[in-house]
Amino acid sequence: FRVLRWTWRLTWVSALAGLAYVGYGIYETRNPSDQPPPDPSKKTLVVLGTGWGSVSLLKKLDTENYNVIVVSPRNYFLFTPLLPSCTVGTIEHRSIMEPIRNFLRHKKAAVKYYEAEATKIDYEKRVVYVNDESPIKGDVSQTEIPFDMLVVGVGAENATFGIPGVREHGLFLKEVGDAQAIRNRIMDCCETATFKDQSEEERKRLLHMVVVGGGPTGVEFAGELQDFFHSDLKKWIPEIQEKFHVTLVEALPNVLPMFSKQLIDYTEKTFKEETIDIRTKTMVKNVTDKYIEAESTGPDGKKQLERIPYGLLVWATGNALRPLVKDLINQIPAQKDSRRGLAVNEYLVVKGTENVWAVGDCAVANYAPTAQVAAQEGAFLARMFNQMAKSQEIEAKLIELSEVQEKAPNAEARNKAFDEIKDLQKRLRRMRGVNPFEYSHQGSLAYIGSEKAVADISWFSGNIASGGTITYFFWRSAYLSMCFSTRNRILVLMDWVKAKVFGRDVSRV
Ligand code: FAD
Ligand code: NAI
Repeated sequence: FRVLRWTWRLTWVSALAGLAYVGYGIYETRNPSDQPPPDPSKKTLVVLGTGWGSVSLLKKLDTENYNVIVVSPRNYFLFTPLLPSCTVGTIEHRSIMEPIRNFLRHKKAAVKYYEAEATKIDYEKRVVYVNDESPIKGDVSQTEIPFDMLVVGVGAENATFGIPGVREHGLFLKEVGDAQAIRNRIMDCCETATFKDQSEEERKRLLHMVVVGGGPTGVEFAGELQDFFHSDLKKWIPEIQEKFHVTLVEALPNVLPMFSKQLIDYTEKTFKEETIDIRTKTMVKNVTDKYIEAESTGPDGKKQLERIPYGLLVWATGNALRPLVKDLINQIPAQKDSRRGLAVNEYLVVKGTENVWAVGDCAVANYAPTAQVAAQEGAFLARMFNQMAKSQEIEAKLIELSEVQEKAPNAEARNKAFDEIKDLQKRLRRMRGVNPFEYSHQGSLAYIGSEKAVADISWFSGNIASGGTITYFFWRSAYLSMCFSTRNRILVLMDWVKAKVFGRDVSRV
């Protein structure tokens, strides 16, 4: 009994200590301690963007070492892997956004943040020109920021390949606003399709949801949309049941080219069961407000042009360069052959420049443009910058010590300084040996609808391919654990429970 009593007491004490720890954590998050202001006497490090690459850098960077300035039109970090879930309301968009202010306020030394778009990088002058593009503008809405060091992490924009009508009539899926626009358009199409005296043909068109691009963005969105229809839409609007249809259009012979053959087949089979139509070898050439024109290649190799009417068109055909990046490429002779982004070396330095680095989708380093790559690149730069700052500190100390050694009054003081110098030189040599960036691929994951996911996971030197419901739970737990903050994790978890219990919201705002 005594043992039991002590065990009981110990359990209580540990539970209380745990609660106090969590409570303190929350208090600390809400009430950050004072930060020393940015020190303009230190090197100015300008970071462009608040996406995966830049935020991963800022997370690990010791901000005491530099005068850090962040410029981005988006004052939050967006957890893009769960963005397709926001298009149908499985997850609310604010659950996957983390305000950049909250995050920067917890850094060791203060960081300046400007909500603005970098419009030009003048490499010769070492200046970034920025514009406040938000609806509210003050007397000053354009300015310039000089830099000693610059990290370009502005991501990419949506590729349209110059296909006419895409920008005017299609919806993209990259930002929160895109997901909201898609969610509204789905509901608008459904409500308009049920409008009094609507013809059957028009109804069919309005309820035809076309997704162009069979990469992971297109596949995940198509899966989410079909889930929304099966679990919610058809219950609340039974009139649309017969005509609602999702079609995925892909120019290549199969979807998800980055996954193994086995998972491609599994995805295509699952889509067939879910009644999502996959139109491979079909290249969209033109888009109007009511139909797309696509060229499909038949089994006999014959090409055929057809018109596909649509109500919703989601365009997910990958990435293109931002104008800012294009302009920087044009300024640097060594970048003249760069087509897909800023060519960087093994330390992520933009080739042909000094003290300019690039991370994520705007950089080309022989890796796919994914969050995984961008995050690892950002973390690498942070480690390197921290080390560079320490090296500079040591170099300054070495100069100081050699003066001490020169002016030493006796042999004992001289020897002491000599030993310290030797020690510091050894440390400096170790620090200067920074290894180049090496990407470690953890695997690829994608949700394909009907509570199924596919995963190609790297395991030691091999690869495990799996698809199905267990993989779906793995997908969920992996992304939940990767969410930016505990707040995000709790909100996402609550959204999943809410969608399961009450269904998704079908209102249009
Ligand atoms: P982004 O994260 O796009 O950030 C760019 C930042 O730059 C933004 O803050 C933007 O506002 C800012 N910016 C833009 N222009 C300017 C300017 N002129 N001046 C200053 N700032 C600017 N990858 C995965 O690995 N796994 C996934 O599951 C996955 N799912 C995805 C789902 C969707 C729907 C999408 C669209 C992408 C997904 N990705 C995924 C890819 C991943 O999101 C990108 O590879 C990643 O976001 C790239 O990071 P980045 O930092 O380069 O750019
Ligand atoms: P993507 O580049 O992976 O795929 C685009 C697809 O569109 C290609 O298969 C291409 O053949 C097709 N296409 C291009 N033009 C076309 C046309 N005119 N008609 C029909 N099809 C056309 O693009 P996506 O899916 O937007 O992904 C961008 C990046 O983000 C990729 O690197 C991807 O790996 C990453 N990502 C990763 C996710 C994950 O890991 N779960 C989820 C979403 C994106």
